[in-house]
Amino acid sequence: MMKQSGARCIGILTSGGDCPGLNAAIRGVAKAAIGMYGADVIGFLDGFNGLVENRIIQLTDRELVGLLTLGGTILGTSRNKPHKMPQPDGSTRDLTGAAVETYRRLNLDCLVCIGGGGTAKNALILKQAGLNVITLPKTIDNDVAETDVSFGFDSAMTIATEAMDRLHTTASSHQRTILVDLMGHNAGWLALSASLAAGVDVCLIPEVPYHFDRVVSALEERRIKGRRFSLLAIAEGAQPAAKARGKAPQPVNSMLLSTQLEKALGMETRVTTLGYIQRGGTPSPTDRVLATQLGVAAAGLIADGTYGVMVAVKGQSVVPVPLEDVAGKKKTIPLDHPLIETARRIGLCLGD
Ligand code: F6P
Repeated sequence: MMKQSGARCIGILTSGGDCPGLNAAIRGVAKAAIGMYGADVIGFLDGFNGLVENRIIQLTDRELVGLLTLGGTILGTSRNKPHKMPQPDGSTRDLTGAAVETYRRLNLDCLVCIGGGGTAKNALILKQAGLNVITLPKTIDNDVAETDVSFGFDSAMTIATEAMDRLHTTASSHQRTILVDLMGHNAGWLALSASLAAGVDVCLIPEVPYHFDRVVSALEERRIKGRRFSLLAIAEGAQPAAKARGKAPQPVNSMLLSTQLEKALGMETRVTTLGYIQRGGTPSPTDRVLATQLGVAAAGLIADGTYGVMVAVKGQSVVPVPLEDVAGKKKTIPLDHPLIETARRIGLCLGD
């Protein structure tokens, strides 16, 4: 039973790169909070900017209509941090005080920050400044620490898989090798998962530095078997093994790699960058459910007075984890992860 005397006024903001499911999460928090304890719900515009600049919209039942399936975020987003706000002269200023002032002026009981690892870090600073905060993990990269999964990831994986399925047929028709650039920041979750789903031949991820000659051998082997086309998925942070030793990691340049492969193998190559398409549009059904579940859980935590946490997915459960455990951490693919083992068992070359 929810406490009727729970929170009266909740602020919500979306921060960091957008992804499918943000609106579904806003809707989940607001609908549950309004339905359970008649909360007033305020949305801050453009991430933490809206908080420090007091730019708000009211989120009533009317504003929540049609949000479940809508891509992007109706609140807008930015990567700006309250403690490091960019100024017109190019400098940055610590505007944590302004954020606290807005929170107090609006008489908020809790601020829900929907974002990735960076957002959790910003939220922790606001917690340390005395605010009640809760974060929800979103990102197409799936790299937020302490949660099995973040919403946005499943949609991006679905988009990337569909794109690579399409590239498969054109690569096969023209007997070409197509290199596909995928997002993912410094984690290979998106590239590896979509590669397994799309039956890609080579997948280069940041966690496994690659050797050029191993990639060449894998493609050569395919040719010997009579396969006259190949698909290579390249995660954003992938890097060659040689560069990984000693020097600062240099992300792979797909155009250059494509030219080198063309030269080494004498096969026609092409490069396709999926880019922001991976982040746009309507969320997958899985992300709609997840974002709603996390949003509703946040509303429940507020009713119970549990703050300073991220709402995380652990197995079949949705649980609060302290922001201190999340902030400043990244979840990359452990080398003994079943996905890596699965890739190796089916002969998906990781370049090592
Ligand atoms: O975190 C999501 C993400 O799309 C990453 O995969 C990528 O590295 C980054 O955002 C791109 O950032 P921006 O939107 O600032 O170009």
